[in-house]
Amino acid sequence: MSMLRLRGFEIHKGYLDPEVQRSLIETLRPVLRSAPLFSPTVPGGGKMSVRMTSAGAFGWYSDEMGYRYSDHHPKGFDWPAIPEAILDLWRDVTGLQRQPDCCLLNYYGEGAKMGLHQDKDEADFSFPVVSISLGDDGMFRIGGNRRGGKTDTIWLNSGDVVVMGGEARLAYHGVDRIRFQSSRLLPKGGRINLTLRVVT
Ligand code: SIN
Ligand code: FE2
Repeated sequence: MSMLRLRGFEIHKGYLDPEVQRSLIETLRPVLRSAPLFSPTVPGGGKMSVRMTSAGAFGWYSDEMGYRYSDHHPKGFDWPAIPEAILDLWRDVTGLQRQPDCCLLNYYGEGAKMGLHQDKDEADFSFPVVSISLGDDGMFRIGGNRRGGKTDTIWLNSGDVVVMGGEARLAYHGVDRIRFQSSRLLPKGGRINLTLRVVT
């Protein structure tokens, strides 16, 4: 395990060992069963290539009307609770008493990517966003607080944890591409990224 800092992003390489990664995947199975993945529509009308779902009091949602948090899955039911093991991880990395109220689960299948964006639908930017990578490698692109500035990339591998706080909290970031089936954590391949957020 090693920690590197890039533009305020704290990147903990290899934070989760393979055993913990496997147990997290098991923990996520019931979440995915009760809150199936969906492909959000973006305000322009297109579909995101990343499929998503959430756990917690709030889940991230998007449609023609815009981006927002919602207290229910698009099919109408409540989001499942955030698993204890994931809340423990948040406490380990942040040292905060306050718990996140959203665990967004992004699934990147072959060819999926996520454009540069800021996470700014939350009420209080003094709380960090914690990102956990599982499965295939993903090329993470990070910039500053303005669109169009200089950017850097770093590969995120299974087990890496990134803390986006302080100057990185409102920094642009995205995922250019994944290396499909570079990991064997998920039997069918793909990348799962969890982001833990304090929404309210
Ligand atoms: C996100 O910004 O929501 C996801 C970042 C990632 O997949 O690493
Ligand atoms: Fe994000």
